[in-house]
Amino acid sequence: MHNVIILGAQWGDEGKGKIVDLFSERFDIVARYQGGHNAGHTVKIGDRKFVLKLIPSGILRPGKRAVIGNGLVVDPAALVSEIETLEAAGIDVASQLRISNRAQVLFPWHRLLEKISEDRPGRVSIGTTSRGIGPCYEDKIGRRGVRIADLLERDTFPARFAALLDEKETIARAFGLAPEEDSAATLAQYADLAERIRPMVCDTVRLLNDAIRAGKSVMFEGAQGTMLDIDHGTYPFVTSSSATAGGACTGTGVPPTSIHATVGVSKAYVTRVGAGPFPTEALDQAGDHIRVRGNEFGSVTGRPRRCGWFDAPLLRYTAMVNGFDSLVVTKLDVLDELDRIPVCVAYRRGKSEVTEMPPTIREMEHLEPVYECLPGWQTSTFGIGRYADLPARARDYLNFMEKHTGVEIGGISTGPERNQTIVRPGSRFQQLFQP
Ligand code: GDP
Ligand code: IMO
Ligand code: MG
Repeated sequence: MHNVIILGAQWGDEGKGKIVDLFSERFDIVARYQGGHNAGHTVKIGDRKFVLKLIPSGILRPGKRAVIGNGLVVDPAALVSEIETLEAAGIDVASQLRISNRAQVLFPWHRLLEKISEDRPGRVSIGTTSRGIGPCYEDKIGRRGVRIADLLERDTFPARFAALLDEKETIARAFGLAPEEDSAATLAQYADLAERIRPMVCDTVRLLNDAIRAGKSVMFEGAQGTMLDIDHGTYPFVTSSSATAGGACTGTGVPPTSIHATVGVSKAYVTRVGAGPFPTEALDQAGDHIRVRGNEFGSVTGRPRRCGWFDAPLLRYTAMVNGFDSLVVTKLDVLDELDRIPVCVAYRRGKSEVTEMPPTIREMEHLEPVYECLPGWQTSTFGIGRYADLPARARDYLNFMEKHTGVEIGGISTGPERNQTIVRPGSRFQQLFQP
């Protein structure tokens, strides 16, 4: 059985939640490896809709193990609230979920520090989700962070809490801000939350490696997307974690030699939330059409998503970084009504073609996308479940994407529901998920 990483090939919100939920049926364990409750993974099952933030989408399959890996930053209040929502929906979270004792703990002051940083005059704001994700990762890398195992140590946690709080209050005061939180109440709240999650906390590195050795299969669920990766994305307009395939190893403690394949999830077009370069952004009516038709509003913050055309050079880049074995293209149905669909096939700057992803924002902003326009199919693909049933022009569009990205399109999503998915016969993707 295969161990597979599924992750976003663009700037997040590609529909990973739906795809992970659908194929988690074939795996024993689904593990998240990075990010925090900045993620919003939507899963629609009949008339029920779940938006998962910290908990892997695999939790929705009864009996499957869901793991929050060591690479995450965990806001215990957000986690417990998510657990309670799922429990109220009848999901047996206590027996399915395991939380890494090495994951980082996110505190209220991380949100405050993020606000200071985002609002600072003269600074270009990233347009974050305001969840405190970046400052929490800063503490991790700065070796000041508190891990879940520390949170559970009843006798040492108050002193660690006080030391960190003291440092953060000093910073807040330097910026003329009064610390908002009642620190005694926060300490008591964290002590309570610790007890709530304690039964689910364990050494998930051991759990995952033992399971793999025993022949069990693991799906690694990425959050955010490749272009939001701290190293490989459009820095500094990125998130603070390793969203790319490499992050699956560091973020779970499973070695690369135990992982067999990587699958990318990409929309049939592109969206991005927050600031930063976006070469194929459509700032005209067509962009508005996609936003409305695709309901492109953030699942965490409700912000309108910026919309644009499929960007093949960007996908070639994300395929290189992640080594995609196959690609799942989502939201094909959103393009149904368009009479012509531009696809970016190359970048130019002046007279020359740009073949590498530029490392600076300035260079990225100067990229001129070269488009080829394909005829739209102008008929509904919504809910189609067989490749052969797609209109010829939709198949041409997918073939064109495949040709210009060099990656197999093994799966196609034509609606938010589980059964609104096509697995392309004979594809590598089919081999991975329908052995
Ligand atoms: P994620 O963060 O990658 O899991 O994606 P989000 O959940 O943030 O955003 C994807 C949105 O598109 C969700 O509202 C899904 O229900 C929806 N969705 C997923 N696949 C499809 C599809 O093929 N067609 C349509 N119309 N909606 C889809
Ligand atoms: P999922 O997992 C889309 C974006 C934010 C901002 C930047 C940094 O649902 O695909 P952060 O709060 O992480 O420091 O914000 O990253 N961002 C996302 N965009 N989908 C996400 O998650 C995102 N998580 C963060 O909008 O531009
Ligand atoms: Mg999302």
